[in-house]
Amino acid sequence: MKKVIFKTEHLSKSFSSGGTLQHVLKNIDLELYQGDFTVIMGASGAGKSTLLYALSGMDTPSLGTITFGGQDISGLSQDGLSVFRREHCGFVFQQIYLVDSMSVMDNVLAAGFLVGRDRKRIVQRAKELFGAVGIPEETQRKFPAQISGGEAQRVGIVRALINSPEILFADEPTGALNSKTGLDVLDTLTKFNEEGQSVVMVTHDMRSARRGNRILYLKDGAILGECHLGRYVHGDAKRHKMLSAFLTEMGW
Ligand SMILES: Nc1ncnc2c1ncn2[C@@H]1O[C@H](COP(=O)(O)OP(=O)(O)O)[C@@H](O)[C@H]1O
Ligand SMILES: [Mg+2]
Repeated sequence: MKKVIFKTEHLSKSFSSGGTLQHVLKNIDLELYQGDFTVIMGASGAGKSTLLYALSGMDTPSLGTITFGGQDISGLSQDGLSVFRREHCGFVFQQIYLVDSMSVMDNVLAAGFLVGRDRKRIVQRAKELFGAVGIPEETQRKFPAQISGGEAQRVGIVRALINSPEILFADEPTGALNSKTGLDVLDTLTKFNEEGQSVVMVTHDMRSARRGNRILYLKDGAILGECHLGRYVHGDAKRHKMLSAFLTEMGW
């Protein structure tokens, strides 16, 4: 039995625009499991990012509840939510914003020291993570302006994982990268997931989606269907066919 990390009940989110209410998430009942690489797919505007922001406490639901490890986070104050995010969540976005005046290593350490655990352990963890994503010491000493987009994205992943979050959220993490560097980033995410890291990734790209073991399809703010692909195996043609068939069924 997989352990449930997130559970939403009747999760709804509406925004008012020009006097009318736009219902972006509609009554979502969902469980997400520990160790999964969950992928959220759907057309642009389907509500994927909104769902990710709600789960990660970056935004609050209009209606419904979200529990994380059994704790209701939907009623937390802004301060409570920021503590929740800092302690339990890691984030990778399309664009990684690093502090220009700090070295790559210092950018990562700063995020670690913010949570205030043992400094020696944070430095050790940073070194391990940099090793795991293939960023050598020489690059760790560089400044953000001196590294490539693909390197920056891998630094972003290291920074997101420095506090050993229970869950790593990624919103279109390869959206701004070329094909080769995008693949490196996907390989990195896959590798961490194989080591037990729970991942929730939003994408509208099939090549990225294939990395997940569970694919959720969002349409007009509701989950239209889901597909289980099992653990990622490189070059698995059957997996690709299963995902294609599922997406066709979903009207992709
Ligand atoms: N902060 C906001 N204020 C008003 N409308 C928003 C806001 N965030 C998202 N929306 C609207 O919600 C819909 C879904 O957006 P989003 O979740 O970003 O979709 P996706 O990530 O699937 O492309 C869009 O129509 C968008 O305009
Ligand atoms: Mg989005």
